[in-house]
Amino acid sequence: MISKIKKALIHELIGNTPLRKCGYLSTENKTNIYIKEEFHNPGMSSKDRPALYMIQDAIAKNKIKKGGEFVEASSGNTGLGIAMIANELGFKSTIFVSQTCSDEKIAMLESAGARVEICENSNGLHDFYSTQFKAQSYASNHPNAYFTNQYYNSGNIKAHYLTTGPEIWEQTKGKITHFIVGVGTGGTISGVGRYLKEQNKDIKIWGVEPSGSILSHFLEYGEVPDDNTKMEPIEGIGRTFVPGSFDGKYVDKIFQIGYQESADRAVSYRKDSGLLTGFSSAAVIAALDKYVEDMDFQPNDLVVLLFPDHGSRYISKLYAGETNASFGSSIFTNQKIASQ
Ligand SMILES: Cc1ncc(COP(=O)(O)O)c(C=O)c1O
Repeated sequence: MISKIKKALIHELIGNTPLRKCGYLSTENKTNIYIKEEFHNPGMSSKDRPALYMIQDAIAKNKIKKGGEFVEASSGNTGLGIAMIANELGFKSTIFVSQTCSDEKIAMLESAGARVEICENSNGLHDFYSTQFKAQSYASNHPNAYFTNQYYNSGNIKAHYLTTGPEIWEQTKGKITHFIVGVGTGGTISGVGRYLKEQNKDIKIWGVEPSGSILSHFLEYGEVPDDNTKMEPIEGIGRTFVPGSFDGKYVDKIFQIGYQESADRAVSYRKDSGLLTGFSSAAVIAALDKYVEDMDFQPNDLVVLLFPDHGSRYISKLYAGETNASFGSSIFTNQKIASQ
């Protein structure tokens, strides 16, 4: 009985997250803004979706045997999905995070049964001190360990192409005009972007990354920039290399936003609405403010922002000492899209 319940938790609770209209952001931006609330997944982030696909794929292809160890390099959220699902299925997990990972995420990883290794950076496989290099090296040197490698695993894009994209299309009854999300591995924007463009090629697919990240330059010029501007640390988004899971074919534009602009917006959003947002979600809201003219929303547009996780994961970084929230009435209106 208990194992049946556990199975239901893993396979049935991931995905089908709510899409709700945000009255506050809609009024501010003079259009219809909806939020895809990915923090309703069991691990409280969108990354449960690729974690499940990558684990199922590894098991189906006999890449790992019962009792083995899943290994991942993560800003924390994919790692939590991997740890939680691995634990339920009788596997172990070791997650390599960078030193910018919040204390809350590390505590959650450990409570989900993961062993956590903290690395200097997440600059990609070519960097000896990166989470990716350490994870790959660890998996190569341990029997029955498997590196899911979200940066190069097609399951990362596939999870969003097969689940998140269709959910958004159905929840908006095909009326979506813009999809906006922070970009890290690129799995979400590539998978959702591909699905939505296949339904309607005019839907705008826009990304948000931190200042100093290279993906917007890569998208525009097809090459990585020469200068070595330091990337600002907004957890979960931004890259100093181009991951295999980023498919620019389905992305129209990537906007850049600073660390401080995002942190300030997280705090002001909380003051205005009473709600805690994740760091990368705050970056998307800050990008709406900063690029309002470029975005040029029309009153009848239907804009979907994907919020990958929740502000409770960033109390120590974003909200410590900020007790001035208004906790006013809910900023959300309807659960479903009825009519515009
Ligand atoms: C908080 C947060 N936001 C955004 C992203 C970016 O998603 P993706 O890796 O699919 O580009 C991640 C990825 O880990 C994340 O953890």
